[in-house]
Amino acid sequence: DRNWVKACDAKKVGREDVARWDHSGRSFAIFRTADDQYYATDDICTHEYAHISDGFVEGTTVECPRHAGCFDFRTGEALNPPVCVNLRTFPVKVVDGAVYIDID
Ligand code: FES
Repeated sequence: DRNWVKACDAKKVGREDVARWDHSGRSFAIFRTADDQYYATDDICTHEYAHISDGFVEGTTVECPRHAGCFDFRTGEALNPPVCVNLRTFPVKVVDGAVYIDID
Protein backbone atom coordinates (compact mmCIF):
# COMPACT_ATOMS: atom_id res chain seq x y z
CA ASP A 1 0.00 0.00 0.00
CA ARG A 2 1.61 3.16 -1.23
CA ASN A 3 0.97 6.60 0.14
CA TRP A 4 2.59 8.89 -2.40
CA VAL A 5 2.57 12.51 -1.32
CA LYS A 6 3.78 15.37 -3.49
CA ALA A 7 6.71 17.01 -1.72
CA CYS A 8 8.18 19.69 -3.98
CA ASP A 9 9.31 20.67 -7.44
CA ALA A 10 12.19 18.48 -8.54
CA LYS A 11 14.13 21.61 -9.45
CA LYS A 12 13.97 22.81 -5.86
CA VAL A 13 16.53 20.20 -4.86
CA GLY A 14 19.96 21.17 -6.13
CA ARG A 15 22.34 18.65 -7.66
CA GLU A 16 24.43 16.95 -4.96
CA ASP A 17 22.32 18.69 -2.39
CA VAL A 18 19.50 18.12 0.07
CA ALA A 19 16.22 19.88 0.80
CA ARG A 20 14.07 19.73 3.88
CA TRP A 21 10.38 18.89 3.59
CA ASP A 22 8.04 19.12 6.56
CA HIS A 23 4.79 17.23 6.43
CA SER A 24 2.28 16.17 9.10
CA GLY A 25 4.63 17.06 11.93
CA ARG A 26 7.50 15.09 10.43
CA SER A 27 10.62 16.24 8.65
CA PHE A 28 12.03 14.50 5.61
CA ALA A 29 15.30 15.05 3.77
CA ILE A 30 15.15 14.88 -0.03
CA PHE A 31 18.42 14.26 -1.87
CA ARG A 32 19.41 14.65 -5.49
CA THR A 33 22.61 13.12 -6.82
CA ALA A 34 24.88 14.59 -9.47
CA ASP A 35 23.12 12.36 -12.03
CA ASP A 36 19.61 13.37 -10.94
CA GLN A 37 18.65 10.38 -8.85
CA TYR A 38 16.36 11.30 -5.96
CA TYR A 39 16.27 9.76 -2.48
CA ALA A 40 14.47 10.52 0.76
CA THR A 41 15.22 9.82 4.40
CA ASP A 42 14.06 10.90 7.80
CA ASP A 43 15.47 14.36 8.42
CA ILE A 44 16.28 13.82 12.08
CA CYS A 45 19.63 12.26 12.89
CA THR A 46 19.57 8.91 14.70
CA HIS A 47 22.26 10.08 17.11
CA GLU A 48 20.92 13.22 18.79
CA TYR A 49 18.67 15.99 17.59
CA ALA A 50 19.85 17.55 14.35
CA HIS A 51 18.34 18.09 10.93
CA ILE A 52 20.21 16.05 8.36
CA SER A 53 19.11 18.55 5.71
CA ASP A 54 21.37 21.11 7.42
CA GLY A 55 24.31 18.81 6.75
CA PHE A 56 26.75 18.39 3.91
CA VAL A 57 26.25 16.20 0.87
CA GLU A 58 29.16 14.60 -0.91
CA GLY A 59 28.46 11.99 -3.53
CA THR A 60 25.88 9.68 -1.97
CA THR A 61 26.84 10.53 1.61
CA VAL A 62 25.42 13.12 3.95
CA GLU A 63 27.28 14.36 7.01
CA CYS A 64 25.27 15.39 10.04
CA PRO A 65 25.92 19.05 10.94
CA ARG A 66 26.12 18.33 14.66
CA HIS A 67 28.78 15.64 15.24
CA ALA A 68 29.75 14.76 11.67
CA GLY A 69 28.20 11.28 11.62
CA CYS A 70 27.72 10.15 8.03
CA PHE A 71 24.97 8.22 6.31
CA ASP A 72 24.60 6.75 2.86
CA PHE A 73 21.35 8.45 1.92
CA ARG A 74 20.48 5.78 -0.67
CA THR A 75 20.20 3.08 1.97
CA GLY A 76 20.20 5.09 5.20
CA GLU A 77 23.24 3.14 6.37
CA ALA A 78 25.13 4.71 9.28
CA LEU A 79 28.76 4.91 8.10
CA ASN A 80 30.87 6.21 10.98
CA PRO A 81 30.70 7.07 14.67
CA PRO A 82 28.95 8.57 16.46
CA VAL A 83 26.04 7.38 14.33
CA CYS A 84 25.33 3.66 14.59
CA VAL A 85 21.60 3.45 13.85
CA ASN A 86 20.56 3.64 10.21
CA LEU A 87 18.35 6.44 8.95
CA ARG A 88 14.97 5.42 7.70
CA THR A 89 14.53 5.76 3.95
CA PHE A 90 11.43 6.27 1.84
CA PRO A 91 10.63 5.46 -1.79
CA VAL A 92 10.79 8.46 -4.13
CA LYS A 93 9.50 9.05 -7.63
CA VAL A 94 9.58 12.07 -9.93
CA VAL A 95 6.50 12.65 -12.08
CA ASP A 96 6.01 15.69 -14.30
CA GLY A 97 8.79 17.58 -12.56
CA ALA A 98 7.51 16.97 -9.04
CA VAL A 99 8.99 14.80 -6.29
CA TYR A 100 6.66 12.32 -4.60
CA ILE A 101 7.52 10.42 -1.45
CA ASP A 102 5.87 7.28 -0.16
CA ILE A 103 5.63 8.31 3.47
CA ASP A 104 3.46 5.31 4.52
FE1 FES B 1 23.93 13.70 14.18
FE2 FES B 1 25.23 13.63 16.51
S1 FES B 1 23.30 14.49 16.10
S2 FES B 1 25.92 12.91 14.58
